[in-house]
Amino acid sequence: MAEVRLSHIVKGYGTQLAVNDLSLTVNDGEFVALVGPSGCGKTTTLNLTAGLIELTGGEIHIGDRNVTDLDPKDRDIAMVFQNYALYPNKSVYKNLAFPLQMRRTPKADIDRKIREAARLLDIEHLLERRPRELSGGQQQRVALGRALVRDPKVFLMDEPLSNLDAKLRVQMRAELKRFHHDLSATIIYVTHDQLEAVTMADRMAVMHGGLLQQYDTPERVFEAPVNVFVAGFVGSPAMNLVPAQVTEGGAALESPQGWRCTLSPENARKARAASSRDVVLGARHSTITLSPTPLPGGIEGRVYTLEPTGDITFVHVRLGNDTLVISTPPATRFAPNAPVWLGVDQTKLHLFDAATGMALRAA
Ligand SMILES: Nc1ncnc2c1ncn2[C@@H]1O[C@H](COP(=O)(O)OP(=O)(O)O)[C@@H](O)[C@H]1O
Ligand SMILES: [Mg+2]
Repeated sequence: MAEVRLSHIVKGYGTQLAVNDLSLTVNDGEFVALVGPSGCGKTTTLNLTAGLIELTGGEIHIGDRNVTDLDPKDRDIAMVFQNYALYPNKSVYKNLAFPLQMRRTPKADIDRKIREAARLLDIEHLLERRPRELSGGQQQRVALGRALVRDPKVFLMDEPLSNLDAKLRVQMRAELKRFHHDLSATIIYVTHDQLEAVTMADRMAVMHGGLLQQYDTPERVFEAPVNVFVAGFVGSPAMNLVPAQVTEGGAALESPQGWRCTLSPENARKARAASSRDVVLGARHSTITLSPTPLPGGIEGRVYTLEPTGDITFVHVRLGNDTLVISTPPATRFAPNAPVWLGVDQTKLHLFDAATGMALRAA
């Protein structure tokens, strides 16, 4: 396997930049997820890495080779697509053999590689079947097998699980993670699903509008999102984000919706770093407590609705025109329209500069 280095890559279509000066290093053996909403440039980035489309600017290295001007077939990569792209009239065995025959691999080697891959992916018993005689999950494993037999330096995967039903997707997530572990493979995995990225990847590269927003471990991205976009994109339910104004020289926040919140000294230092009084306060659903009676320093809101999920009940609370989602133990009962008091964990609170969207750091 090998390291992949994207240096200042750019892809323009007309005046629009699908990928805008993206630099990213994927370490040898690392599983990296490219994640972001539809149209943010994930597939374009992957196709540029594969050599399927031409760069407008920048360079790509795989291992110690500059592959910028190489054909896809000379880049030592294997791709796995959303639609599997299996040959419908060939058996599984022949589907796996085909890319090797194209490379004039000796017959005995082909057979050995297919048996190895089939064992690893648990599809030995399916080798004589045709794709239509397989379930979606089995077809997905064959598609992985076809990438695997080529012994690539890097696996490139574009939404490989999105055609599967929800339950199978969760199961294949675990299998892909195991596949990565067993092979110590270098994998670049594209998904619009932040949960897939968080659960599988060693590091995630969050993209938006062709620009790389943050590249870090899922834990770091979750705990310290660099801007409002990343904060709202990673995590489910999404982080609560509400506009507020810095007041009392940074000691507190106030909202046009009528509430006020005293800040800890640490958060006050962050608030004072804002470029104006306008900030965005961020708090995940699990970092706010709800009380049916007034809390000292608590923010008063009104229950809007409840979403019980079994383990957790999500309470939607209105603060004026803003709605927050807060998780509570299932036993707690809050009636719609009842007043509630919110206690915010100051150590878990996020503050963003409203003008730039960037996370505020204590000066
Ligand atoms: N061949 C193309 N011609 C023109 N625009 C394209 C082409 N391919 C992609 N784009 C545009 O580039 C942007 C990024 O697309 P894409 O990489 O497919 O996004 P993603 O995979 O993140 O959904 C989108 O705005 C898309 O419309
Ligand atoms: Mg795509």
